[in-house]
Amino acid sequence: MQKLAIQGGAKLHGEVRISGAKNAALPIMCAALLSADELHLSNLPDMHDVATMEKLLQQMGVKISAVAQGATFNAANVDKLEAPYEMVKTMRAAILVLGPLLTRFGEARVSLPGGCAIGSRPVDLHIKGLQAMGAQIHIEHGYIHATAKRLQGARICFDLVSVTGTENLMMAATLADGVTILENAAREPEVVDLANCLLAMGAKITGAGTDTITIEGVRNLHGAAHRVMPDRIESGTFLVAAAATGGKITLTEARADIMENVLDKLREAGAHITVDGSRITLEMTARPTAVSLRTAPYPAFPTDMQAQFMALNTIAEGSAVMVETIFENRFMHVQELRRLGAQIEVEGNTAIVTGCAQLEGATIMATDLRASACLVIAGLVAQGETIVDRIYHLDRGYEHIEAKLSALGAQIRRIK
Ligand code: EPZ
Repeated sequence: MQKLAIQGGAKLHGEVRISGAKNAALPIMCAALLSADELHLSNLPDMHDVATMEKLLQQMGVKISAVAQGATFNAANVDKLEAPYEMVKTMRAAILVLGPLLTRFGEARVSLPGGCAIGSRPVDLHIKGLQAMGAQIHIEHGYIHATAKRLQGARICFDLVSVTGTENLMMAATLADGVTILENAAREPEVVDLANCLLAMGAKITGAGTDTITIEGVRNLHGAAHRVMPDRIESGTFLVAAAATGGKITLTEARADIMENVLDKLREAGAHITVDGSRITLEMTARPTAVSLRTAPYPAFPTDMQAQFMALNTIAEGSAVMVETIFENRFMHVQELRRLGAQIEVEGNTAIVTGCAQLEGATIMATDLRASACLVIAGLVAQGETIVDRIYHLDRGYEHIEAKLSALGAQIRRIK
């Protein structure tokens, strides 16, 4: 089990390049299944979930060749229409092969993703949508077995805003017979990035980025080249780390326009932020002020940034009310932060954080991806040494995070 050893106290300073977005790369890689032509992807982040998705596609028969700064995907000879449990259990995003396999090949067998630390994570909306498009779906022995001669366009209104639900059905609709209208669709930038890739492949999509997406099915999609968008959650994570340590950093190859809510919250905490094209500079010259927040679907405050802001609030001036409305169990980092001396009370989906002057280093344990990032940030500000255990969670969704933090002056090293 690998760990990170962090000596707290260093103020982060310098420049850091933002990698391609994990939550855009994963659905876009699945889009390769929709065509027999080559899909060239650049700016793919080098992280565990991307490697897992590549293995999942390769075991289906997709040929993947690494090229400078990216990879080429060729799904001309897919011969296995299945996503096995042992791959799905480690990466829930594998559910995103369901729509593409079903709409191109008429069949798919995808393991039901298990729950995870942050919640039960059902996929009922994915299944309901595909059934509305005419798919026959049986759940047996933990697998979703779906068949459809040819999916039919349908009007689908999501009971809940679902990012991968929107993405799965948008991909399924690209080759369906007729028009599909997705209502109460997710508006996340990663949905827009996927739509842009599908448009480049010849799909007919309007409304991506709004809550109503219309897709007119076509017979075939052709090859394309697409550059994955920058990761707004990695961006936010580094900015919060700089704010917490009282430093000054500049993100390069970033996009401020897709993280306005996070930047507003950082300014509310007292950070000075300037944006110059794809460069975002944050400077923190005083102790942060506690900021209250409520997570909600884009463009509201992202649930994937809640844990990182909690780390900031633990050492801020004042107290904050943090409400998590998306997942039912996304406070796993609270008891770990308490081990560092943080003052946090939890009532249902609300955490009250009372800032204290100083955290004390200790050994703590990561439970999920963004909780891991939160604990690293806390370690950067805690007095003395903090050991973060089970950092495989971190490696799933951040590219070379300790190298990037070390380059910004953090005292951080990986120990086996
Ligand atoms: C995506 O997960 C992201 N993952 C998550 O990022 C992110 O936290 C989440 O969206 C919310 O923004 C990827 O894009 C790969 P949802 P997803 O479907 O699509 C309920 C990270 O840290 N729901 O938008 O699985 C669900 O339980 C990860 O990078 C149903 O009830 O999330 C949740 O309460 C963590 N039935 C809510 O909707 C369904 O069929 C939103 O989930 C689908 C979802």
